[in-house]
Amino acid sequence: MEKRTELYRGKAKTVYTTDDPERLILHFRNDTSAFDGEKVEQLDRKGMINNKFNNFIMDKLEAAGVATQIDKVLSDTETLVKRLDMIPVECVVRNYAAGSLVRRLGVEEGQELSPATFELFLKNDALHDPMINETHAVAFGWATAEQLAQMKSLTFKVNDVLKQLFDDAGMLLVDFKLEFGVAADGSIVLGDEFSPDGCRLWDKETRKKLDKDRFRQGLGGVVEAYEEVANRLGVAL
Ligand code: TMP
Ligand code: ASP
Repeated sequence: MEKRTELYRGKAKTVYTTDDPERLILHFRNDTSAFDGEKVEQLDRKGMINNKFNNFIMDKLEAAGVATQIDKVLSDTETLVKRLDMIPVECVVRNYAAGSLVRRLGVEEGQELSPATFELFLKNDALHDPMINETHAVAFGWATAEQLAQMKSLTFKVNDVLKQLFDDAGMLLVDFKLEFGVAADGSIVLGDEFSPDGCRLWDKETRKKLDKDRFRQGLGGVVEAYEEVANRLGVAL
């Protein structure tokens, strides 16, 4: 397997083609961004932690029957993945109110949500990832109704698996974002990443924030918090 050219440079990862047209390489960089790329900083070790963390989580999800794009880890910061045709719609589940939900609805941060909520956002930094609904996604051809139904049910399944996993390690999974793609055989597969960059995690007792809100809110100790999450789960760094 040989690394070829840069296909796409995102805010935190770079995607490379390989000599296999069905395989890509994800390179997890130290770049940390917030507010749709307005605030960017390099955080030492972050790329390595997120790569290893993502592989650990994706392994758990595969074991629970969720198809992921992971093929194999190549290095501290690189993973070989199956090529997907990415759907530009982000799926968000929330177990507790935080972030944009609090800003949008004026509800109290930390309120437990029952049932857990499900939201869709269009992946578009220039438009600040606007919230959309299923009819927008179908009308504009971003996904079919069948694909959206599968994405929703897979996102809730991921929530069931990970809520328990984090709870067992003394953390609350407040909310998270997933991105899916279409594989060569037409099936819906979990892509992108699951890391503290794309979810909210609080300590169960103290509600200390252990995710990218530390960076967004300038709380400091960002990488230390990511490391703590990894250590609590037993991820080998
Ligand atoms: P929000 O509160 O900003 O809407 O975000 C909800 C969760 O989804 C939070 O864990 C952050 C994550 N998220 C991303 O990682 N990237 C995004 O572009 C969006 C919209 C959400
Ligand atoms: N979308 C990510 C965030 O919510 C990254 C960014 O906005 O630059 O922080």
